[in-house]
Amino acid sequence: MRVLVTGGTGYVGSVSVERLLGAGHDVVVLDDLSTGHRAALADGARLIEGSYADAATIGDLLAREPVDALLHCAARSIVPESLADPGRYFQENVGGGIVLLEAARQAGVRRVVFSSSAAVYGIPETTPVREDAATRPINPYGETKRALEAVLSWYGVAYGFRAVSLRYFNVAGASAANGEVHRPETHLIPILLAAVESGRPMTVYGDDYPTPDGTCIRDYIHVEDLADAHLAALEATAADDPRTTPSPEQGLLVCNLGSGSGFSVREVLAAASRVVGRTVPEVPGERRPGDPAVLVASSERAGEVLGWSARRSTLDEMIGSAWEWRQRHPDGYGD
Ligand code: UFG
Repeated sequence: MRVLVTGGTGYVGSVSVERLLGAGHDVVVLDDLSTGHRAALADGARLIEGSYADAATIGDLLAREPVDALLHCAARSIVPESLADPGRYFQENVGGGIVLLEAARQAGVRRVVFSSSAAVYGIPETTPVREDAATRPINPYGETKRALEAVLSWYGVAYGFRAVSLRYFNVAGASAANGEVHRPETHLIPILLAAVESGRPMTVYGDDYPTPDGTCIRDYIHVEDLADAHLAALEATAADDPRTTPSPEQGLLVCNLGSGSGFSVREVLAAASRVVGRTVPEVPGERRPGDPAVLVASSERAGEVLGWSARRSTLDEMIGSAWEWRQRHPDGYGD
C-alpha cells in the first residue's frame, strides 16, 4: 500500500517509515522539519516539506500523490510546552488534525492510524490501564490527543473512515538508523544518557511516591516494537476488515501500546549503569508537577486485535540501543 506519513522525520515517525519500507510499502513523508530531522528520512521514502495543517499543501499533495492510508505521527508533543502555550497545541494538534482529515475525506482516503498517547488517561485510578479506563487528561497535550481521537471516531461513524488510535506509553530505544532527539529533551532515558556523557548529574523527580522505592513507575516500549504495531494497525484498516468497521456510536479502534511491565526511575537508572558500564550521576529533586506515580498499560487488546506483542522491550535492549545510537551520532542529527 501507499502510505502518507506525517511527522515521518521525527522519532517514532522515522522508525515507522523504516518498518513500512521494510515490509514493501510505498511511503511519502510530509514533514515541515520544525522538530524532525532531514537526516532521519529513510532511503526509499520521499519527503514533501510542509505542514499537514496547511489546507493547500495537503490538498495539493493528496491530489498529486494518491495514497491508500495516512499514518498521522506529526504533533507538538512536549507536555510542559503545552501547559505554557495551550493555544498553539490546540490550534496545531486539533485544528491542524482536522485540516488533514478533511483533505483526506475530500481525496477519498479513509484509512487512518493516529499517534495518540497515554497522556489521555491523566492520573489513572487503576493499573494496568485498559482502553476503557476514563480519559481525564491533566495537560493540554493529552487533551489535544483525546480531542483528535474524538474527531476521528465521528469521522468513522459519519464518513466511513477506518481508523486506529495507538496510545503510546513511554517510548524508548533506537533503531540502527534513528534515535531520540527532542529539543528541549524531557524524557528520562536520553537525559540519563546525556548525564553519563557529560558527567553532569541529572535530577530524579521525587522519591516519595507510593511505590516500592519511592520513584515513579512507567511502562517503557521499544520504538521498533511500536513501529511493528503501526504496520499491524495500518493493515487492520483495510476495506471490509471487521476490526475497523465503524459502529453507529464508535468509529475508532483504540489500542494501548506498552510492554505491560512497569519499571521505576531507580530501576531504569540501575539498568542504565549496568548497560553502559558507568554509574549515572544523579541528584534527588522535587516531584515534577503532573507525574502520576504509576503508569502501566494493559496491552491485551493490541495482542488480541492486532496480533501484536512487544518483542524488544527489555530495559537492556531499549537503553542499549539508545546508547549505541548516541555513540554513533554524538551530535544527534547534526542539525
Ligand atoms: N524523570 C526524572 N528525571 C528527568 C526526566 C524524567 O526523574 O530528568 C522521571 C519522570 O518524573 C517520570 C519518569 O522519569 O517519573 C519518566 O519521565 P518521562 O519524561 O521520560 O516520561 P513521562 O512518563 O512523563 O511521559 C510519557 C510520555 C508523554 C506522555 C506522558 C503521560 O512520554 O508523551 O507519559 O503521562 F504525555
